[in-house]
Amino acid sequence: MSALNIILMGPPGAGKGTQSRILVDGRGMVQLSTGDMLRGARTSGTEMGRVVAAVMDKGDLVTDAIVIGLIREKLTDLHPEGGFIFDGFPRTLAQADALGALLDEVGQRIAHVIEMHVDDAVLVDRVSGRSTCAACGEVYHDQTRPIPADGHCSNCGATTFTRRADDNADALRNRLLAYYKQTSPLIGYYYAKGMLRHVDGLADIDTVTQSIAAILDG
Ligand code: AP5
Repeated sequence: MSALNIILMGPPGAGKGTQSRILVDGRGMVQLSTGDMLRGARTSGTEMGRVVAAVMDKGDLVTDAIVIGLIREKLTDLHPEGGFIFDGFPRTLAQADALGALLDEVGQRIAHVIEMHVDDAVLVDRVSGRSTCAACGEVYHDQTRPIPADGHCSNCGATTFTRRADDNADALRNRLLAYYKQTSPLIGYYYAKGMLRHVDGLADIDTVTQSIAAILDG
């Protein structure tokens, strides 16, 4: 039987990573974040990591071939009962077609494509206030989800937190442009396939979680 696979779609700072982690903890789903995979590649010092680092820091999209290759590897290796969360993938029509073909090959399908809508002005605050636990990747925000007062990550207890190199005004402008030029056409693509759902990404984190749960359990 096909697992419940979903795509979380939205601009930078929409809350895709935050909600993915909640779904992983609560439903045993597996998060496939191409952004996390690419950040992993760049810190591992591989040739591919060196190639993608400059592109990511500018806020441009990495080539389709690279990210499709990363996803292909995961779909072949992993078979989660809880299903996959595609976080930040696909981002172009070519990636969307490739994902459909890859899922066909492994006998899987996408159940829901969930568009998280957030006003552009809010995204700047979201991204500029973000920090991430260096050990486990838990996501915090200076105002809306501050690091605990004792300085320890609430998930793993680590004390080192990082800010992303592409969380600055210039890179964010390019990331937003890339979203509207290359990724937002996928909203129509998945609408036409009958897979598109919407949640209000401006609501607080718990409310967004409930909206997504209503779609998954509906
Ligand atoms: P990627 O890592 O995918 O970044 P992104 O899409 O820009 O999204 P973000 O991670 O910035 O935001 P998010 O929606 O996950 O928000 P978060 O939950 O952290 O991609 C990075 C780069 O990699 C790309 O620019 C590109 O170069 C490359 N790349 C990746 N995938 C690619 C692909 N498929 N093709 C080509 N290139 C690719 O939340 C943000 C902040 O807001 C946090 O601080 C959080 O605490 C807070 N927050 C979250 N939800 C709420 C809420 N409801 N209310 C208040 N605050 C909230």
